[in-house]
Amino acid sequence: MRRLVGVDTSCDDTGVGIVDAGDGSVLANVVLHQHETHGPFGGVVPERASREHLDRIDDAFARALQESGSTLGDLVGVAATRGPGLVGALLVGLSWAKGLAFARGLPFAAVHHLDGHVASAAVDGIGRALCLIASGGHTLLLIREADGAARPLGASRDDAAGEAFDKVARALGLPFPGGPALARLAQEGDPDAFPFTPPLRGQSGYDFSFSGLKTAVATLLERDPEAPAADVAASFERTVVRSLVGTIARAARDFGLDTVIVAGGVAANVRLREALGTSGLRVVLPPPRLATDNGAMIAMAARARLTGPEPASDLEVDAAPYLPWAARSEATT
Ligand code: KG4
Ligand code: ZN
Repeated sequence: MRRLVGVDTSCDDTGVGIVDAGDGSVLANVVLHQHETHGPFGGVVPERASREHLDRIDDAFARALQESGSTLGDLVGVAATRGPGLVGALLVGLSWAKGLAFARGLPFAAVHHLDGHVASAAVDGIGRALCLIASGGHTLLLIREADGAARPLGASRDDAAGEAFDKVARALGLPFPGGPALARLAQEGDPDAFPFTPPLRGQSGYDFSFSGLKTAVATLLERDPEAPAADVAASFERTVVRSLVGTIARAARDFGLDTVIVAGGVAANVRLREALGTSGLRVVLPPPRLATDNGAMIAMAARARLTGPEPASDLEVDAAPYLPWAARSEATT
């Protein structure tokens, strides 16, 4: 058996996945969350995140081997996230993965975290498509060519979509991590209760902006502390979803594209998935468990490099906490 291991420790999840080197199918995807560690602080504490990755990465790997029925001898390549992310957290997974590759004499590939998110949607053979990456750190709309090259069309000018979910969740007093908690609460609310102004209405470009909406929610809660939280959550969620899907639909028309790939943690959002489903576009999504940070997507992103003639990365490659999308080819060397 020929298998690849992928590692992601870019933030607060220790992710180790194992995929088939031949067809990229996911055989194990272990994600150890740190919610209890960071919950009391209302956000990720970087130093604690690094320490926990260090404590738990061996266990995550052992579980992934067991879950996939693999032995060390089945592994033919190792991939890890190089950036962007928290530097201490990145260093743990990257160093660990390089150590495994060195000890076993395996090829190693450093991966740009956002390439991992795109790969999670199993994009091989999709052809030219729009691609939205919406996570806690990024909101990026791209045109992705069939060969994987990608040109940015727009991005968030301020908060990322996931970040807005997290901040509004916090304002509503919801537990960390906020995005999924807000989405659950919103299911019980009326999305028409509070008609928030759509962000960047009337723009001709393809950018996003969520901090004005976040402020509108905060102002509402200040003026009316009794406002039903479920209604506020549902109205906020609808406004974000409409902004994302509206901009995607407009870009699809303008560029004559009929397919959209949507990836990143926010792609787990049920209302977003529903709205995309009625957009008239062919929609390519990761399964929800692969939408949020995980190691399997990193192995998926590196499969061609680890199994083909392209050179894999040097073991000298360092963590890169700030790694813009435009520099992602540098992530590979
Ligand atoms: O991609 P990801 O796991 O980590 C980053 O690379 O940032 O994305 C995490 C983000 C968080 O902001 C989280 O609140 C958001 O994705 N998220 C969601 C949902 N699940 C995760 N936002 C809305 N609805 C969800 N169901
Ligand atoms: Zn991510």
